[in-house]
Amino acid sequence: MKITVIGAGNVGATTAQRIADKELAEQVVLVDLIEGVPQGKGLDMWESAPVEGTDTRIIGTNGYDETKDSDIVIITAGLARKPGMSRDDLLAANATIVGGCAEAAVKQSPNAIFIIVSNPLDVMVYVAMKRAGLAPNKVMGMAGVLDSARFRSFIALELNVSVEDVTAFVLGGHGDSMVPLPRYSSVAGIPVTELIPAKRLEEIVTRTRNGGIEIVNFLKTGSAYYAPSSGAVQMAESVVKNKHRVLPCAVWLDGEYGLKGTVAGVPVKIGKTGVEQIIEIKLLPEEAAALQRSANDVKENIAKLKF
Ligand code: 2OP
Repeated sequence: MKITVIGAGNVGATTAQRIADKELAEQVVLVDLIEGVPQGKGLDMWESAPVEGTDTRIIGTNGYDETKDSDIVIITAGLARKPGMSRDDLLAANATIVGGCAEAAVKQSPNAIFIIVSNPLDVMVYVAMKRAGLAPNKVMGMAGVLDSARFRSFIALELNVSVEDVTAFVLGGHGDSMVPLPRYSSVAGIPVTELIPAKRLEEIVTRTRNGGIEIVNFLKTGSAYYAPSSGAVQMAESVVKNKHRVLPCAVWLDGEYGLKGTVAGVPVKIGKTGVEQIIEIKLLPEEAAALQRSANDVKENIAKLKF
């Protein structure tokens, strides 16, 4: 197993480190434009391997030759938000960056599964798919795992229960119109709607929606990376181990949920071939309408792309 991580910033570097710590690949190639950064971070991580007890070789590079024949390519490259910015403000700049990375990576690794992390996430999934000519089942965006992890962590705090017992689903685009689904969220199978009063649950839903900007406002110079990298690595792990995990991921929709020609977060079964199945769950009319609105927002942004 060989995994390429493009972008050696906070998200990319932490992703590479988590892959190595879990020993998910024999080799991780960390790619970045900035001379010395991927090499330095890669070497530093490799030097931690004897202590951590991992044999995953990490190398850093400024080019793509070393990425040849990767099984998975994770794209984290691009600008991050600063306070006052929405994810959509990154659209034009990151479309160019992500498109270029995807094109260069697929030339070396035509059979790789692509996991996209750069923002605005859903549109970047489309950009990577189009620019690299990927089949829709070979590309998925990491956002639902992150948004759901935020929702789960807040529910665990609220009820003082283990995060391990909390499951939660957040669908839709990775933006202000994301769709947290309390009805499909539970603590050891008990619906959270029975454990948390509706008004308080609504506050937790709002905090989840604003989870990204809450971190940006603390950090001021960038956005979250610990939880985003965890999300990307969980998706990669399901590919590596062919685990068939069901995770909310941003994928190209061709009629599923009544949505066509757009990307949105939906429950996806992930295995070694990438997207194995898009699972359609029954939504209440208001939930379906919220998903539709969110997917339409993504579609409008796709229409703004200049290619
Ligand atoms: C977040 O929600 C960066 O979009 C990412 O934190």
